[in-house]
Amino acid sequence: MTAKSPRPDELEPIERASRDELAALQLSRLRWTLQHAYDHVPHYRRAFDAKGVHPRDLTALADLARFPFTVKTDLRDSYPFGMFAVPREQVVRVHASSGTTGKPTVVGYTRNDIDVWATVMARSIRAAGGRPGDIVQVAYGYGLFTGGLGAHYGAERLGCTVIPMSGGQTEKQVQLIADFKPAVIMVTPSYMLAIAEEMERQGMDPKACSLEIGIFGAEPWTPTMRAAIEAKLAMDAIDIYGLSEVIGPGVAQECIETKDGLTVWEDHFYPEVVHPETGEVLPEGEKGELVFTSLTKEALPIIRYRTRDLTRLLPPTARSMRRIEKITGRSDDMMIIRGVNVFPTQIEELMLKDAALAPHYQIEISRPHIMDEMTVLVERVPGAGGADGDAAGRRLAHHIKSLVGVSAEVKVLPPNGIERSLGKAKRIVDKRPK
Ligand code: DLL
Repeated sequence: MTAKSPRPDELEPIERASRDELAALQLSRLRWTLQHAYDHVPHYRRAFDAKGVHPRDLTALADLARFPFTVKTDLRDSYPFGMFAVPREQVVRVHASSGTTGKPTVVGYTRNDIDVWATVMARSIRAAGGRPGDIVQVAYGYGLFTGGLGAHYGAERLGCTVIPMSGGQTEKQVQLIADFKPAVIMVTPSYMLAIAEEMERQGMDPKACSLEIGIFGAEPWTPTMRAAIEAKLAMDAIDIYGLSEVIGPGVAQECIETKDGLTVWEDHFYPEVVHPETGEVLPEGEKGELVFTSLTKEALPIIRYRTRDLTRLLPPTARSMRRIEKITGRSDDMMIIRGVNVFPTQIEELMLKDAALAPHYQIEISRPHIMDEMTVLVERVPGAGGADGDAAGRRLAHHIKSLVGVSAEVKVLPPNGIERSLGKAKRIVDKRPK
């Protein structure tokens, strides 16, 4: 156990409850949610009726499998407020996630929903090793994105001193870290790397900075990336997961004492893992698509939401709640290159094992002829020369071929050749003809 792991008396009682106690709470909350959704959201009434199910058909948690899934387009089709289950006047906040095409997905919160969100976020920060009194720099974007405000309310709820920096202004991020000395930073892992580079540019040693804990999420990142960040900044890098449709950040959180996947805050969000094609519920331990049902949300109850995130459910360890394995990809990010399924994180794992390559990359997919082709753009580390970079590129291409099973062109660029993101990194650039 590290010094940062919470003492049992610091936890909420439900974090230590027995499985039976938790299951009883889930069942009563699930029944309430299904009824609430059925009574107040026309989409759910139609979808339940079409499937021939009624909220009273749920007598055990496993009965949830009989209920219909909800997908992103269901929310888009009800744009902007059609999925709200309370009168609009009771919605005290909206957020929205920008879609790649057309209209954003809008989500809403009652005062109580905001309170629940702050509670699960405070719980998450504590699980990551944060404590009341810590200074927390929030470098997730504030605004329609749920990252900034979600982290902000949680850190305040825990009793921290919040620096509401938002994403961007990298020089200023570094200045405030130097001057205000936060112990905790909440930011995407890719933007953390950009901040660390800026420290070096300013002549600061990232290892010597005040940061002890990074709470990183909003994008997939690998265990190798964790090792790289922890080594570069001498900090604990802890994973946080969430999505706007379910509440925002704080749906699941890695605990600092185990770092063994993310504990799902199951008293508020009920997880299932289903077969991505058939939708059949998979047993614990099998990999598939993560599906969530909210258990307490008032403004936007969400029933069996297909996240498209791929993972497996694991038994509890540090808390009473079950865990999910670190998410290393979404089905949307899966590239099919000459018949082989490839995720950007597989390439990330391989690239970060090479000391001559920096953890900044993009993958271009093109279709010059009939088949899709993949080009990996990566940078050499500042100390490496052009020839070292080219040799590393050849090594990477070889590893991709032998371990992932596809041929890829690897282009090694000089340092700073890849544009830095200020939030979620864009890993795939699709250059295929539309
Ligand atoms: O990204 C909420 C968030 C903010 C989570 C800050 C963590 C920290 P959305 O913009 O709706 O919400 O995007 C949700 O991001 O379905 C995953 O594909 C991905 N994602 C989020 N956290 C992780 C993570 C926020 N820890 C989508 N690992 C999700 C991998 C993640 N992917």
